Amino acid sequence: MIGVVLAGGLGTRLHPLTLYTNKHMVRVGCLPMIEYPINVLAEAGIKDIVIVSGGEFFEQIEQYLSHGNERGLNFHYENQNRAWEKPKGIAHALSRVKKIVGKEDMAVILGDNIFGMKLDFNLKEGMEAKIFLKEVKNPERFGVAEIKDGKVISIEEKPKKPKSNYVVTGAYVYKANVFDFIETLEPSERGELEITDVNNWYIKRGKMCYEIIEGFWSDAGTRESIKVAEEYVIKSGLEEKILKKYPFLNSRKEWEKLFK
Ligand code: TTP
Repeated sequence: MIGVVLAGGLGTRLHPLTLYTNKHMVRVGCLPMIEYPINVLAEAGIKDIVIVSGGEFFEQIEQYLSHGNERGLNFHYENQNRAWEKPKGIAHALSRVKKIVGKEDMAVILGDNIFGMKLDFNLKEGMEAKIFLKEVKNPERFGVAEIKDGKVISIEEKPKKPKSNYVVTGAYVYKANVFDFIETLEPSERGELEITDVNNWYIKRGKMCYEIIEGFWSDAGTRESIKVAEEYVIKSGLEEKILKKYPFLNSRKEWEKLFK
């Protein structure tokens, strides 16, 4: 299985910060945001990880993470869009890894998603895709899963009347047939190739399995959600765990000294 971290996009909700830096290099605790999704893949035993980013700050991530060998990982990089092009959505970012991935299954994670648990990226027998659902109080802001008889039967993006409290998080598993489907996708009203359309294609064909995750999950795409995530990674010891695993990263003490 190959890991994929999708770290493109514009990060407009973090302006003006993201006018000067790649969103995924913004700190959550004392670590750049992207450390957390990479840690999820590494904890699942995945060694080959493709990172997709784009725009004028594409190289920041490559410079920061490099080849990955000191982490016992192999990082590969794909560029989604040039600095003057608008990124065309999550499914478009995923389509960029086709050549590297070949026919392998993919564990895909959004670069701004912070998970407080291990994820099991194995597909159930006969299935071609997997989503990770989380029960939340405010499902209207997310892609909401309708579940019937133990199966997800649809995902509705930001519904006014959500059919459940289970929302689709930013981690997915796909077989390589995902690339053929993305090629047939048309941009949505907001001009993006939507990952929800990809997921609904697997659901319609009865090939989507799911797991409900327990524990902390948040994106870190806004100031408020970064605060929430930051509190979690520090209190839970997740930040410390990653710092211990990779001693070449600065310790929290040094980080605090820097910002005194
Ligand atoms: P979003 O938060 O939906 O988009 P964004 O990162 O551009 O932020 P904003 O809405 O504030 O402008 O993206 C979620 C994740 O998906 C993010 O971590 C990056 C990734 N992504 C891509 O890799 N390529 C894309 O074209 C888009 C839209 C997102």
